[in-house]
Parts: sequence; C-alpha cells; structure tokens
Amino acid sequence: RGLFGGGGESVQPQTLQDVAENIRERRCKRVVVMAGAGISTPSGIPDFRTCRSPGSGLYDNLQQYDLPYAEAIFEIGFFHRNPNPFFALAKELYPGNYQPNLTHYFVRLLHQKGQLLRMYTQNIDGLERHQVAGVPPEMLVEAHGTFATATCTSCLRKYDGEELRPEVMSGAVPRCPTCKGVVKPDIVFFGEELPLSFFKYLTDFPLADLLIVMGTSLEVEPFASLAGAVRSSVPRLLINRDLVGPFAWGRRPHDVTQLGDVVTGVKELVDALGWTQELDALMAAGSQEV
Ligand code: OAD
Repeated sequence: RGLFGGGGESVQPQTLQDVAENIRERRCKRVVVMAGAGISTPSGIPDFRTCRSPGSGLYDNLQQYDLPYAEAIFEIGFFHRNPNPFFALAKELYPGNYQPNLTHYFVRLLHQKGQLLRMYTQNIDGLERHQVAGVPPEMLVEAHGTFATATCTSCLRKYDGEELRPEVMSGAVPRCPTCKGVVKPDIVFFGEELPLSFFKYLTDFPLADLLIVMGTSLEVEPFASLAGAVRSSVPRLLINRDLVGPFAWGRRPHDVTQLGDVVTGVKELVDALGWTQELDALMAAGSQEV
C-alpha cells in the first residue's frame, strides 16, 4: 500500500483494483473523465480510425462524396465549398439513432454517487446527455460541440437541432429561412474555436483527484493535452484498446492502464467497486425510457 494509505488519502494505485478501492472508499471524490469515439463503438458508431477503413458502414457511405481525405469532413473550408458529406454524417449521427452503452451509464453512476467532477467528451453523438444516458448538462463538456443546436453560417441566427431534423433526415442541406445561408450544427470543425465550456478545464483539472481516460486516441489537440493537466500526484487510469498519448510516451508513476475492450474494462472496474447491480438497474431503466 502507498505511503498515505491510512490517513484517508488515496492509496497510490498500481492496478484497476487499487483505483476501485480509492473510489469505493470515497478517497476519490472529484473524478474527471475524458472520452472519445471508442466509448461509442460498442453502441455501433464507428470511431475515426475504423471509419477510415473500407468495410465500415459510415466509410462506405462517405465514399460516394469523394472526400479528398477523411478529416476534410470536419474542415470548415471544405464545408463551405461542399457541405454534403458532413450532412451525410449528420443524418447518421443525429440524436435518436443510437443508444448509450455501459460506459456512458458508468459516468452517470459516478455522478449519482457524487464523485464526478466533470466529463469531457470529444464525441458528437450526444449519448452522454441528460435525455440519453443521464449525465446532467452542468457535468458534461462536449468539447467538439453538439447536434443539439445549430447556427446559420451567414446571418448567425441560432436554431434548435430539432428544427433541422426534417431537412437533415431527408438528406437535404438545411437552409436559413431568413437569409438562405447554410445552417450548420454546432459541431466544432478544425479551424474553429472550442466552446467556452471547454475552458472549465482550467479550474477542473487542478482540482481533480482521479482522471479516467477512455476510448480516445488522444491525437487531437487541444483536447489531448488535458490528460497532462491534472496534478502530477493524481492517478490517471486509461481504459482503451491501445496505449495512447502520455500513457505511451510520458508515463507517470501512478498511471494505471487497462488495455482491451472498453466495456470489458469498465465492467471490471464496476465489479471491483461493487456497483454492478446499481449499474444494471440504471441501464435497465434507461433502455425502458428509450
Ligand atoms: P479515435 O478514432 O481517434 O480514437 C478512438 C480510440 O478508441 C482508439 O485508440 C481505439 O483503439 C479506441 N477504441 C475504439 N473502440 C474501442 C473499444 N471497443 N474498446 C476499447 N478501445 C476502443 O477517436 P477520438 O480520440 O475520439 O474531431 O478522436 C478525436 C477527434 O478526432 C474527434 O473528436 C474528431 C476526430 O477528428 C472532431 O469531431 C472535430
């Protein structure tokens, strides 16, 4: 056990079980979660790596649009010239098509236990949201934006995502009734500012007593660098298929990695916490609501 084991301070973790003990014994009460596309692949949404490879439904879908390269779909310059590929993706990802999985409900449970400081997600599928997996808005930072709101690229008029739904679902590019400009969902494109809520990290990360990173390649900045923004004494847990970011090249002594499938890893953590029944109940209630 670590030096500070007895005094109510965190045990310096070596394993997933140690991390679980710190959460269970409420030594960690300000947990920050960072997530990416890998937590939604179990819900059926291909991540960015997979959707670059032939055979993924989304990729095949996008082939017809002749993208010069996969990232072009999130480039604002490309969007202004040709919004069609993005709206093909929007049709696929529009709220309602996919259901959250165990990883999303785990974050909600962490919140219900009063131990979530904030969840930072790069995902634009909205599966964490209050109306879906049940993470309240004030607990969630959607760092790369959301389909829940939209803005006219010409007159900047604001829209609710639901107002665009019929046009998006019919495969059309939504237009502003006032000025006929293209209405773009508030997804953050490369070359655009991140939402103001992202800057909560400035106060959250120094306060965190545990960081859980799951389902991200930690390749896209500035999000990726947040993993280095917790204090150096704070344990970081990676649950991911492969080693990424500082877990690969800048390992700290209290870093713990759980490699493999993210649902399996989170399940193992939940089992070690003794929260399995509660999580099952949340998921059962959630799927009934849906
Ligand atoms: P990536 O697709 O780059 O990385 C997903 C990570 O999750 C990879 O490390 C996969 O190995 C891992 N993974 C996938 N499925 C998994 C599973 N079932 N179990 C465990 N691990 C799994 O996705 P992000 O890191 O989210 O930008 O990508 C970041 C950003 O790049 C996105 O937000 C997007 C994109 O360009 C914008 O939307 C602006």
